Amino acid sequence: MRQPLIAGNWKMNLVRDEVVSLLDALVPAVDGVEDRDVLVCPAFPYLALAAERLSGTRVRLGAQDMGWEAKGAFTGAVSPAMLADCGATDVILGHSERRHVFGEDDAMIRRKVGCAIDAGIRPILCVGETLDEREAGETWAVIERQLTGGLDGLDAAACDTLTIAYEPVWAIGTGHTATPAQAQEVHRQIRGWLAERFGDAVAARTRILYGGSVNPKTIDGLMAESDVDGGLVGGASLKAADFAQLVNYGRNG
Ligand code: 13P
Repeated sequence: MRQPLIAGNWKMNLVRDEVVSLLDALVPAVDGVEDRDVLVCPAFPYLALAAERLSGTRVRLGAQDMGWEAKGAFTGAVSPAMLADCGATDVILGHSERRHVFGEDDAMIRRKVGCAIDAGIRPILCVGETLDEREAGETWAVIERQLTGGLDGLDAAACDTLTIAYEPVWAIGTGHTATPAQAQEVHRQIRGWLAERFGDAVAARTRILYGGSVNPKTIDGLMAESDVDGGLVGGASLKAADFAQLVNYGRNG
């Protein structure tokens, strides 16, 4: 019942010509794939351009972050209505780089999640532990805190369009992909938490993505796990051939 989702987080990469070349190569390579959802998340300035190139295709468009108010005096922030206006349907929230580089905390992320839901933009809430936290045996405690904080006070209906991304910080950009067993263990715990907090229906329908050095060599093993419903991909999403292989996981021969 959960259609897999392969999502590319382009982070602060690619300028206009590169955005156009990547999309022009990517769209024909993935557009015929009907049993997996595909999402790309360019930087803010290129959302509208990307929406134009993606119009009429199956590839969805997302943003990498969002402000937490509808409008007003928030210099540098981008509102949900602005994202929707530019064609974005999804938004990554609470990415570890937002948490660790820009100092976002769970309360800020919770406000963003609520704001996205209110505006009809599908939130992808990112959670994940650092290496120190994993080595101290705190992995689940950290993730539970991030889930509890990021979704505080929401009801099951509000979670209709929610996606969770488990991205262990030690795996992001390091080439050290979590093993399928490591990913599955945490994904299973996340799904159990969703069941307890929001009920079995929400737990059964919510996609849980894995992110952190996903590449064409590691995707098949990860996707074979029962609670891994897709990937949130950084580096490998910047190359059309690699990203197309990820979307076609299990079929690359
Ligand atoms: P990498 O795939 O480059 O490790 O990045 C993962 C990530 O942070 C996706 O949001």
